[in-house]
Amino acid sequence: MSEHYDAIVLGAGGAGLMCAAVAGQRGRRVLVIDHADAPGKKILISGGGRCNFTNVHTAADRYLSANPHFAKSALSRYTPADFIALVQRHGIAFHEKTLGQLFCDGSARQIVAMLLAECAKGRVDIALGEAIIAVDHADARYRVKFGRRTASAPALVIATGGPSIPKMGATGFAYDLARQFGMKVVEPRPALVPFTLGGEDVLFRDLSGVSAEVVARCGKAAFREAALFTHKGLSGPAILQVSSYWRHGQPIGIDFLPAHESGWLLAAKRERPRATLRSVLSALLPDRLAETLSDRLALTGDLASQTDKALAAAGQRLSAWTFHPNGTEGFAKAEVTLGGISTADLSSQTMESRRNPGLFAIGEAVDVTGWLGGYNFQWAWASGVAAGQAL
Ligand code: FDA
Repeated sequence: MSEHYDAIVLGAGGAGLMCAAVAGQRGRRVLVIDHADAPGKKILISGGGRCNFTNVHTAADRYLSANPHFAKSALSRYTPADFIALVQRHGIAFHEKTLGQLFCDGSARQIVAMLLAECAKGRVDIALGEAIIAVDHADARYRVKFGRRTASAPALVIATGGPSIPKMGATGFAYDLARQFGMKVVEPRPALVPFTLGGEDVLFRDLSGVSAEVVARCGKAAFREAALFTHKGLSGPAILQVSSYWRHGQPIGIDFLPAHESGWLLAAKRERPRATLRSVLSALLPDRLAETLSDRLALTGDLASQTDKALAAAGQRLSAWTFHPNGTEGFAKAEVTLGGISTADLSSQTMESRRNPGLFAIGEAVDVTGWLGGYNFQWAWASGVAAGQAL
């Protein structure tokens, strides 16, 4: 016996729950199916357990996609202010940490509870711990076999996310399903992910645990935030941000002294001729980092004994230190997935497939990837609402 719904949402993450709540509250009979035993698991671990649920600086140019215009419509129709209003209606206290990033004061559990309450208000049915066995389409209905049950609806929403952090139940299921229905998938790649270092750069791995505020660059992308050395290579917000722009073989540039003008070492030579490079760097950077950098620059003796040319060259290297990552820590450590279901076949207004009426894709499953800092959840909410209003 098939259970009949108006819409079936696959995936009880942020995007799926938001979409289901909106559609349910519009009077649609909605079923959400997830193979995990609990909803919103990524929400629970996000933001160190406090969920960085949006960013007040959300704008389409902070998202990567083969079509940079695609996200504009949904993001402009459901804004951070809309999500903040929802959070406030549920009495959830929050604060801005830095760079427009909003976090719960209490726990990410409050965001999951809020989404579940919104789903309950829309009388949404949620089936958890159910593997999806098959999906097909016949007689203008999508039929989903899961566990021992079968449900059908004229609308199906793919909200099963991307493959980042597979040990949490993340899969590439969305892509398989999209391909089954003839939709294209932009090559999925790990993003917001630490780099691994090898070759000459391997010496920096001894600095594991040391962090500094830097400007990290990859191509035209540049982010001024903290970088962190790890036992495998490089991490920290600035590094995670540039990782989304990185392709194998490309160098990463690091400005270790972003607050300093070029030529500052020449000024230091005039002011403190007896100081060494190591000692001036130690005043500005963590000691171990200062030591490694000055060792690599190999300027022995005090500043007075260096030529201006040598000091200018050292200053130049410190502001554009080049690392050659030999890879990333992959999907196991990636916060999100770059690429995904191609936007080419999707309506930017409703997230509906043009070639498959009634089939929608939202959230991380789609080829829209935000910067670090609440941008990915804002996309999950906005794309979920866009589809929820169209179901
Ligand atoms: P999500 O992955 O959340 O949900 C997909 C759901 O589908 C899951 O419940 C999964 O179990 C289910 N599913 C998958 N395959 C299935 C299958 N085959 N059958 C049935 N169900 C299936 N973003 C941000 O903006 N702020 C932040 O603070 C953070 N922090 C953060 C920390 C960490 C450690 C990670 C890994 C990620 C973040 N993110 C983040 C990114 C954010 O978590 C992510 O962008 C959203 O959760 C995406 O929401 P979706 O609903 O699209 O997918």
